[in-house]
Amino acid sequence: MKISDLRFAPLGFLLGICELGRVGGRWIRSKQRYPQVRFGRGAIADDKCVFEEGVVIQEQVRLSNATIGAHSYVSERSILWNCKIGRYCSIGPEVRIGLGIHPTRNVISTYPGFYSTRHDVPISFHTRQGEPEHKMVSVGHDVWIGARVVVLDNVTIGDGVIIGAGSVVTRDIPPYAVAVGAPARVTRVRFSESEIGILESVAWWNRDIEFCRANAPYFNDPGQFFAKVADDELLSARGKR
Ligand SMILES: CC(C)(COP(=O)(O)OP(=O)(O)OC[C@H]1O[C@@H](n2cnc3c(N)ncnc32)[C@H](O)[C@@H]1OP(=O)(O)O)[C@@H](O)C(=O)NCCC(=O)NCCS
Repeated sequence: MKISDLRFAPLGFLLGICELGRVGGRWIRSKQRYPQVRFGRGAIADDKCVFEEGVVIQEQVRLSNATIGAHSYVSERSILWNCKIGRYCSIGPEVRIGLGIHPTRNVISTYPGFYSTRHDVPISFHTRQGEPEHKMVSVGHDVWIGARVVVLDNVTIGDGVIIGAGSVVTRDIPPYAVAVGAPARVTRVRFSESEIGILESVAWWNRDIEFCRANAPYFNDPGQFFAKVADDELLSARGKR
């Protein structure tokens, strides 16, 4: 920077203060709009979001048109658009979900000005509204998404899935799979097919918090979980029918 540039410093400082005020305003509006949610500093959610109870949104997260299930948390600096996240999910820091689509086939250019009526691009020729620019992402219950994962639009991630840090998820991931890499590939499935069937029928994430509290020790002992909790649950469910 040259000494002569310093004359712009007060203007830069002023603009910085205005920007802080703008972001701070959106943070405060998000907290007022969704008082049941714990928002970290600077985290924002637009008016198309839906939250169940016990959700935590950490610092600087940005949410738009996102539904977040009970007791899930989103870690710092993640951006989630157009998605439905299940209950008891752990979303790591700097994750990106559903940030949009540009056409890639049968077009000369991928620049939004040729196909989009959106007003936030610098120039638009408004020739046609092409393919949808967003498709919903669906994330199941009890999913762990590692740091810096990118999930592309239109992807479905099953219950109980783990996505390794830094992965790029381009295709659907089946329940209880572990997937890593770019593109993310399944490296293993955490339980047998019949065990996954049992977990999906028990659907513990739909039970009240007392169920989890009472059975918490079995969650760290799958053998016991399938032998005791799942058995009791399925027997009593059959009895009720
Ligand atoms: C994926 C993960 C959960 C480990 O799962 P796992 O099934 O126990 O996997 P393993 O450690 O046995 O590794 C299996 C293979 O996947 C590879 N692998 C593991 N994590 C990977 C990743 N994030 N990206 C690419 N490859 C990965 C391993 O190198 C190993 O490869 P190899 O068989 O060729 O040696 C872990 O590596 C990970 O990414 N955790 C996320 C951590 C994080 O983001 N924390 C902050 C958010 S809360």
